[in-house]
Amino acid sequence: MKFNTVLLNLRSAKNVGMIARSHLAFGGDLLILIGDENKWNFKGGTSTYTRKLIESEKLLFFKNFKEFRKWNINHLNFKNLAIEVAENAVKSHQYNYPENCNVILGNERTGIPTEIIKECDLAITIPQITPIGSLNVAISASILFYEISQRMKAKTSIENYKFT
Ligand SMILES: C[S@@+](CC[C@H](N)C(=O)[O-])C[C@H]1O[C@@H](n2cnc3c(N)ncnc32)[C@H](O)[C@@H]1O
Repeated sequence: MKFNTVLLNLRSAKNVGMIARSHLAFGGDLLILIGDENKWNFKGGTSTYTRKLIESEKLLFFKNFKEFRKWNINHLNFKNLAIEVAENAVKSHQYNYPENCNVILGNERTGIPTEIIKECDLAITIPQITPIGSLNVAISASILFYEISQRMKAKTSIENYKFT
């Protein structure tokens, strides 16, 4: 079971740095940044985990979602999961996560555009208790990574179990 994290036009290097940290902690594979590569100037605290990903060649850039989608079809064919506050979305804790998936998160202000959500295999929402607008993107990412990592752990421990 593998997951990649895909960040769609994020504005804040601090958010990307926090997501990189959780991505590594919960066993993510590639961190994929979609948008303007030149603005990613990771400094100080934001660079610690992004540097680790660059060194291990696990940080990739794409200009737009279309290019990323094409590359995914040709190279990985992982399921694209749009993580968003969306009507009729599947609840994050109830979903049976696929073997391999791309976890897609949206811009801090504009989120994931509806047309991109439609191009994804599924929309997943983290159910909130009170109607406060939405969660911070790095917090949302960490919750999702936790959900996936628990299923990865469960699968691994079953596969490694041997009768003696
Ligand atoms: C601050 S939100 C973007 C704005 C949001 N679309 C809105 O209408 O307020 C940034 C990103 O965090 C993620 N996010 C925030 N709250 C979420 C939730 N409850 N469920 C799933 N994703 C969430 C999504 O990926 C979203 O694109």
